[in-house]
Amino acid sequence: MPPRHSPDILPSEITPPDIYRERRRFMQGIGALALAAGFGATAEAAPARLTGVRADPQAPDEARTPYRDITTYNNFYEFGSGKDDPAARADSLRTRPWTVAVEGAVNRPRVWDIDALLRLAPLEERVYRLRCVEGWSMVIPWVGFSLAELIRRAEPTGDAKYLEFVSLHDPAQMPGQRRRVLDWPYVEGLRMDEAMHPLTLLAVGLYGEVLPNQNGAPIRLVVPWKYGFKSAKSLVRIRFVEKPPRTAWMAAAPDEYGFYSNVNPQVAHPRWSQAKERRIGELFRRDTLMFNGYADAVAGLYRGMDLKRYF
Ligand code: MTE
Repeated sequence: MPPRHSPDILPSEITPPDIYRERRRFMQGIGALALAAGFGATAEAAPARLTGVRADPQAPDEARTPYRDITTYNNFYEFGSGKDDPAARADSLRTRPWTVAVEGAVNRPRVWDIDALLRLAPLEERVYRLRCVEGWSMVIPWVGFSLAELIRRAEPTGDAKYLEFVSLHDPAQMPGQRRRVLDWPYVEGLRMDEAMHPLTLLAVGLYGEVLPNQNGAPIRLVVPWKYGFKSAKSLVRIRFVEKPPRTAWMAAAPDEYGFYSNVNPQVAHPRWSQAKERRIGELFRRDTLMFNGYADAVAGLYRGMDLKRYF
């Protein structure tokens, strides 16, 4: 994500579907050969459908980004820094068994098994815009439930002012972690009221199907009014704390990535403007909206704050 190179993405950088399919066929061919040779390569299983998902009554009146783009144009540095690395390499991630530890300043700490988490609340579709700090955006039909559902069950104490979100750290499954691109594991943070906001989602699927590994399986955060990097993938720990957590990107480049990272067209990144964005699949850039278009719902969280200072 936060790039060391030019942030602007040309449509030509996105693998065209026919090339992608070609590559896929090639890989499947290799898989079949390996099987024939007795190496035991597993055949690709179709993603599982999630049942009983309530459609989003507030879906924006905007075209949804195609599934193929959402699942092949990714930022997931644990699998490399190229946009197509996660789709090509995230097969090595094992999403069962999987637990998420909920701990820190709470009365009811608990290590949740992922399958218990999936039954914690009714699954809902949430069609959200995702705006990457690099300058591209998508519209993604996530499936999940509000993080608030989990927070309530943990019963935070008065000391719980912030939440820390920690992604899996396992270089054996995540080859990108063998290089110190970031100080692993990937860590993000939210203020308590941001975390409790009904828009803040724990996503377990997209397009009605189980989340593909490259999108942060088996469970990830989605905070639609903040730059995409706040939405940490493949979570293993949520910790309630008193002070703002030290996030991975703040540790890597404190002048470039602040704790809040609210989408704000008026506050430029030190190396590029944030006024416009390229919606994946569109030719012309469009204006970036304050709080990514969610101002009506979230501006109140920041009333009286200097958003240039608290970027
Ligand atoms: N979470 C982890 N653990 N590692 C990452 O590299 N990249 C972030 C975010 N979450 C990232 C992560 C960035 S920069 C973006 S834009 C979104 O994931 C991209 O999510 P997507 O690939 O599902 O669109």
